Amino acid sequence: MIPRRKVTTYKGFWLDILKGLISGMPDQDETIDLFRKIFSEYIGVKHTIFASSGRDAFILILKALGLKKGDEVIFPSYTLKNLAELTENAGFKPVFVPVSEDFNINPAEIKNKITERTRVIVATHLFGNPCRIGEIKSIALGRNIDIIEDCAHALGADIDGKRVGSFGRAAFFSFETRKIINTLGGGAITTNDDELFSHILKEFKKQRISKIHLIKKAFFCLVEQIVLLPAFWSFFARLLRNTTMKSIILKLYRAAHTTSRNSVYAYSGLQAYLGIKQLDNIEKYHRNRSFIAKLYNNNLDNSIIPLIGKSSRHAYYCYIIRIKDASIISSKLLEYGIDTGYGDEVMQVLDDNKATKVIHDQALELPMYKGLKIEDIKMIVRRINELLE
Ligand SMILES: Cc1ncc(COP(=O)(O)O)c(C=O)c1O
Repeated sequence: MIPRRKVTTYKGFWLDILKGLISGMPDQDETIDLFRKIFSEYIGVKHTIFASSGRDAFILILKALGLKKGDEVIFPSYTLKNLAELTENAGFKPVFVPVSEDFNINPAEIKNKITERTRVIVATHLFGNPCRIGEIKSIALGRNIDIIEDCAHALGADIDGKRVGSFGRAAFFSFETRKIINTLGGGAITTNDDELFSHILKEFKKQRISKIHLIKKAFFCLVEQIVLLPAFWSFFARLLRNTTMKSIILKLYRAAHTTSRNSVYAYSGLQAYLGIKQLDNIEKYHRNRSFIAKLYNNNLDNSIIPLIGKSSRHAYYCYIIRIKDASIISSKLLEYGIDTGYGDEVMQVLDDNKATKVIHDQALELPMYKGLKIEDIKMIVRRINELLE
């Protein structure tokens, strides 16, 4: 069985966690400061603040922007549903804009949704593919609308050499277990805005992440890594084809991630240490992902391969193609031992826009992770081409 994703680790990852837990590293402020410095340098911004998840990072930014109850926040209509729910819980109104062929918000449709209450546009770089941020910025200009970049999938992506996460008023990143870098959960906020930075720092409850909490996070991460081993995953991937089992498994998965996420905005020295080690090698990881994507791009026939802006670098957090009958193809690929995702497993639709719904129904997530073997990629391509002939 070839799983579609894997937990992100490196050689010595578990040993570093064990040593860190024993040595008291979770309490080290210097490690967090060093990670903040090198992360800011890598993204090309003045400030970075770490939080306990990408979602917490997003809500921290939203609250720091001084929105009033009922103010509107524009989202692409194809993204993580929970972000819109959290926005509503915070007292603001999510408004949805259809996406285009690159899976990202369609700038041409944004103006139709702007009202006098619009205060924020969330510019998501979905699956790691930079959105058309230049056009989005021109729309926001002079309208008192802030741009928050959602870079949860896009660490390392750029446009004309400028990294995503440095274009908007602020941006947020995710370091969940299967993201481009994994620090046992966690997230980051980046900004060039001194005022916003001090405001968020003031809000930020600098509470220590407890050791027991870190152990819990490490435990869930290890379980996830084991479940995703080919031998186990072939069992779970089949269970996912059954609708009832699928909803039970997804509920359990979300519950595990929610209980392992801190409700305060804390981050630990140990997590920062894991982040530093991975950020040091990030260009190598990117070369590896781009190599896999190139093999797919060059060899897949009869499917729509990811559309990328001319001067963009895709981070390839996920590799998504579009085909008719994605769910049928996904089931057939499973019979050949290839695990793929479709429908809500890939991403959720947040309104009833037809174009977005078509994109959602046609999206098929192919295996993409560090260490995916060339012979496996060739086999995946061959099977898909056969099925689409
Ligand atoms: C598009 C998008 N934005 C934001 C997030 C939130 O990140 P986190 O899981 O760290 O809260 C996710 C999670 O995967 C996501 O898919």
